[in-house]
Amino acid sequence: MTNKDIWNEIAKEYDNQYHAIMDWRLGYSVVEDLLEGIGGKKILDYGCGSGKFSKILGDLGALVTAVDVSENAIEIAKQRGKTNIDYRVIKDDNLSLLEEGSIDNAVANFVFCTMQQDAQVINIAQQIYKKLNPDGYFIVLEPHPKSLGYDFISMKREIPKEIKSGTPIKVELTGMDTPFYDYWRSKEDYVKILKNVGFEVDVIKEPIVENCPHETFWKDERIHSPLLIVRAKKVLPYSN
Ligand SMILES: C[S@@+](CC[C@H](N)C(=O)[O-])C[C@H]1O[C@@H](n2cnc3c(N)ncnc32)[C@H](O)[C@@H]1O
Repeated sequence: MTNKDIWNEIAKEYDNQYHAIMDWRLGYSVVEDLLEGIGGKKILDYGCGSGKFSKILGDLGALVTAVDVSENAIEIAKQRGKTNIDYRVIKDDNLSLLEEGSIDNAVANFVFCTMQQDAQVINIAQQIYKKLNPDGYFIVLEPHPKSLGYDFISMKREIPKEIKSGTPIKVELTGMDTPFYDYWRSKEDYVKILKNVGFEVDVIKEPIVENCPHETFWKDERIHSPLLIVRAKKVLPYSN
C-alpha cells in the first residue's frame, strides 16, 4: 500500500476521531509562534491532511497553499473552509505549482514520519528550500524520537526490537481504531537532512506540559516531550 492509499483510507478517521489535544497544545501552537507573524504571509502547509492547521493559518490572514497526496484528506479540508487557502492534491512530491522564491514560510506537520526513505524527505526539503524566499522558515513538527514507550494522552508509540533510521514504529492514536506505522528518525537525522539541503537549523523545541495542575488529564506529557519541532532557516549559499 502506498502512503496515498493509506491516508486516503484513514483521512476521515484521523480527522474526526483522533483526540489531538496534545498536538494542539505542544505542537501546532509552538509552530504558530515560531512562524513569527502569520497575517499577510504566504505559507505552504505541506501534507496538510484534512486542513485543521491550514484553517487556523487562513483565519489568521495568511495566504496558504495547502498540499497533500490524499484526495480524501483534501476533500475534507475543503469542506472545513477555504478562506485564504488554495488546497491542492499533489503527485510524486511535485511542488511545481509554486514558483521559486514565492513563499515566505513552510510547515510540514507529522508528514516526514510517514516516509520511510530519507531520499524522499530530502527531495521534498530541497524543493521547499527553492520555493522559499531568502530568510524564509521551514518548520518541521514530528513525533519525538524519544517518545517511544510513553503513555501520552493522544498517542502511544511502541518500542521496536531494534531501532535505526527508517525503522517502522507501531502507533496508536487515541480515539482511532486503526493502528498504523510511522518511521523513526533521530533528532540528529532531521537536523542533518535540513542542513545538507542548505538550511540553518535555528530553533529546536521539545515541549512538555508544565504547571497547570488543574489540567489533571495530562499523562506523560508532564515528564517527556511527545513532540519535536525543528525550525530551519533558508540561508543562501555564499557568493561574491
Ligand atoms: C499524520 S497526517 C498529518 C496531517 C496534517 N499535517 C496534520 O497535522 O493534521 C500525514 C499527512 O501527510 C500526507 N502525506 C504523506 N505522504 C505525502 C507526500 N508524499 N506528499 C504530500 N503529502 C503526504 C498524508 O496524506 C497525510 O494527510
